Amino acid sequence: MERETTIGTIIRGGTVVTATDVFPADVLIENGIVTTIARSIMELGQEIIDASGAYVFPGFIDPHTHLDMPFGGTTTIDDFASGTVAAALGGTTTIVDFALHQKGDTLANAVKTWHGKADGKAAIDYAFHLTIADGRPETIEEIPQMIVREGVNSFKVFMAYKHVLQVDDETIFKVLKAAAKAGGLVQVHAENGDVIEVTVKEALAAGQTAPKYHGLTRPVELEAEATSRAIRLAEVAGAPLYVVHVSSAMAADAISDGRKRGLHIYGETCPQYLVCDVSDYDRPGFTGANYVMSPPLREKRDQQVLLQKLKNGELHAFGSDHCSFNNCGQKELGKDDFSKIPNGAPTIEDRVAILYEHGVNKGVIGLNQFVALASTNPAKLFGLFPRKGTIAVGSDADIVVWDPNAERTISAKTHHMKADNNIFEGMTVRGRPRYVFSRGRKVADGDTFVGEPGFGIHQKSSPFRPVQL
Ligand code: URP
Ligand code: ZN
Ligand code: ZN
Repeated sequence: MERETTIGTIIRGGTVVTATDVFPADVLIENGIVTTIARSIMELGQEIIDASGAYVFPGFIDPHTHLDMPFGGTTTIDDFASGTVAAALGGTTTIVDFALHQKGDTLANAVKTWHGKADGKAAIDYAFHLTIADGRPETIEEIPQMIVREGVNSFKVFMAYKHVLQVDDETIFKVLKAAAKAGGLVQVHAENGDVIEVTVKEALAAGQTAPKYHGLTRPVELEAEATSRAIRLAEVAGAPLYVVHVSSAMAADAISDGRKRGLHIYGETCPQYLVCDVSDYDRPGFTGANYVMSPPLREKRDQQVLLQKLKNGELHAFGSDHCSFNNCGQKELGKDDFSKIPNGAPTIEDRVAILYEHGVNKGVIGLNQFVALASTNPAKLFGLFPRKGTIAVGSDADIVVWDPNAERTISAKTHHMKADNNIFEGMTVRGRPRYVFSRGRKVADGDTFVGEPGFGIHQKSSPFRPVQL
């Protein structure tokens, strides 16, 4: 009897790494799904991908991006087309982007608007978080529908950006309770926005307008206070909580304290907080503005603590917080007033490489933990696991063939993001994707994007369930 051949792809001769295992194996992909993982898979007409000398990682998941987002008097320069191409070239195969709710509008409209930005444009798969801009009863009542109908399982509240995105404790508490009841996870931007409003006004009144005053007006205590307050509010509400973009040891300690009390608190940090620091605000000309983000960059000693907490499992996810602006014409909005500099930096492309370089290559973070932080944990928290976030039979064939020896130097001149600056400029990293597959389709071949805009599909997140990470 003639054996039927199935067109597919075999990733041959690599070392498969998941959050729990490291083993040599071939991986067979058919119809966008992993169908076999075995020591040696016989070729029956499939495309063969050479993974010798390489790691075979699950596609990385970026749990924190801002594409095509109006913010700070302008709009982030990367949209879903450019942002997802850059992400793919860096090894990211799924992003979770924030759909921005506008005060007085419905959550459903925010999701609809974000579908309009992403659908047919994204080159890789995407899911959505929702921000919550007001605590009206209608907004709170809409939360369960967002989870069930729209597949959004997480809701971000802001304790900073007063008069723009900031909500009060009453709103945070109501969102926590409603989300917990309906299977949602609340994310918090933890900085004390009321006090920052005062410190910023004082600085400007004293003629302190340069980018470095962004950092000086947002001291670490204001992040730590807000983090502790948010955790206490979650404790009273009986709700899980995810603290985004943790920048400091003090805030990370508050998360560790909450977890010691048995609470379901999760923490995320980002590449910028591992490798950039407060001295970057003193860069010449107006280039310090490229480092203006919130929370601001901290001291070198904070970097070390954050890395240790990623290693120890006291921080759980590694997001880019990609929020890209050109220096020319966008960051320049704050040339005479640091508070008008749009907050954020282009990080979607280099997120994985920075964690690999400073975690794995430096011998701090093991390969399994690296995969957990950059892929598996975000998949579990945001309702995408086990479709995403692992390499297993039946999972989507989102796969990164990673050459651990290939070196490159990061630069805005060569990156694929639209921004005219890169906060990691000049840094050399060892380890980069040889190939990237999204649902079995090759989307990156070395430095070349070989996918297609619009290939990405919206992924509905399952309701959140507390996970032991
Ligand atoms: O500066 C930042 N982080 N910009 C993006 C918006 C946010 O707060 O995540
Ligand atoms: Zn934030
Ligand atoms: Zn963000």
